Amino acid sequence: MRHPLHRRAVLTGLAAGLGACEGRAQSPADPGAAYLALKELAPFPVGVCAESGQLSDLGWRAVADRHFDRITPEFEMKMEVMLRPDGSYAFHAADRLAAYAQATGKRLHGHALVWFSQGAEPFRPLEGSGAPFAAAYRNYIVETATRYRGRVDGWDVVNEPIAEDGDGFRDSHWRRNLGMRHIDLAFAYAAEADPAAMRFLNEYNLESLPAKRRTFLRLLEDLLRRGVPVTGVGTQTHLSADESPATVKAAIADLAAYGLPVHVSELDISTGRAWDRGVLLQQARLAGAVTEAILAMPAAQRYGLTVWGARDRDSVLARPPKAPGDRPLLFDDTGGPKPAMEAVAAALEGA
Ligand code: G3I
Repeated sequence: MRHPLHRRAVLTGLAAGLGACEGRAQSPADPGAAYLALKELAPFPVGVCAESGQLSDLGWRAVADRHFDRITPEFEMKMEVMLRPDGSYAFHAADRLAAYAQATGKRLHGHALVWFSQGAEPFRPLEGSGAPFAAAYRNYIVETATRYRGRVDGWDVVNEPIAEDGDGFRDSHWRRNLGMRHIDLAFAYAAEADPAAMRFLNEYNLESLPAKRRTFLRLLEDLLRRGVPVTGVGTQTHLSADESPATVKAAIADLAAYGLPVHVSELDISTGRAWDRGVLLQQARLAGAVTEAILAMPAAQRYGLTVWGARDRDSVLARPPKAPGDRPLLFDDTGGPKPAMEAVAAALEGA
């Protein structure tokens, strides 16, 4: 049971938040604002993606340091940054993010060891080579997971293995050279390098495409049946504001039914460019529904909720070539709370 004082602080903050939402935006650099903090409200980690360039951005820090207690490197812990074309390693950016997490008492989620869309260039010279390709694959996973051993809560070991429409599995250089066993191997190598870290199979559109969720769950069942050391389900939960809150909640419950920890790993809720207050309220209903879906799980399964950006301006959806003008996140460009943030807070407070 939370301390009664805590509840008053939260309600004070909520009132401030509502005030901010009505246009009296809080100063983003006003860390002392009597403001509710999501990480204080949540009985599970609340994360945000981060890139090293944001660590010196006061506006980003004002939101990230106050509301979130875990970070996921948005791209700097992926092969595209960490594995140079000549096969050498570049860990400096990921190290900076890991150091920031440690310095600010935040947890760290590793993203992502194996992804169909990365690694083609450095592995091209090894394509078709058999054992050398397999050895380099193992080396990357073991080298990376060992480096952050004891510092990450978990890894997205394999990201997005399912075909876009859910009909089968992604083609990739990993699959062409190692077959579907590349998934088994990735989890085995990650477990070897950092046995204590959680190991996630991470995918998107699992809420909006039932066929993709079915294929994902069939893959999960097969891996678990064969003793592949998958220990968590990552659902990215990139939504559109017009999606059904009930459908999203049911989909997340479906994913939780396997009893494994679930990570809502990359929440954003696209409003598109032509949004109005009605769309922001739809977005809020969805954000609240996602939070309720996590709260509905047994505590042991609540790995956490990670949003894919602190402020709307930080969203990948607000960057070219996407639609500038999209407002997909919980906080507006100045770091002020949006109805979606209040809906998450209200769901957490009601827990
Ligand atoms: O920061 C550099 C900049 O200095 C440089 O000039 C520019 C052009 O080379 O690149 C910039 O880095 C880009 C980075 O985003 C920051 O904008 C990288 O090239 C670009 O690859 C990177 O894209 C990331 C993408 O994954 C690929 O890694 C996005 O930030 C990130 O939001 C996105 O996240 C993915 C998840 O990993 C998986 N699920 C979907 C999600 C959204 O696409």
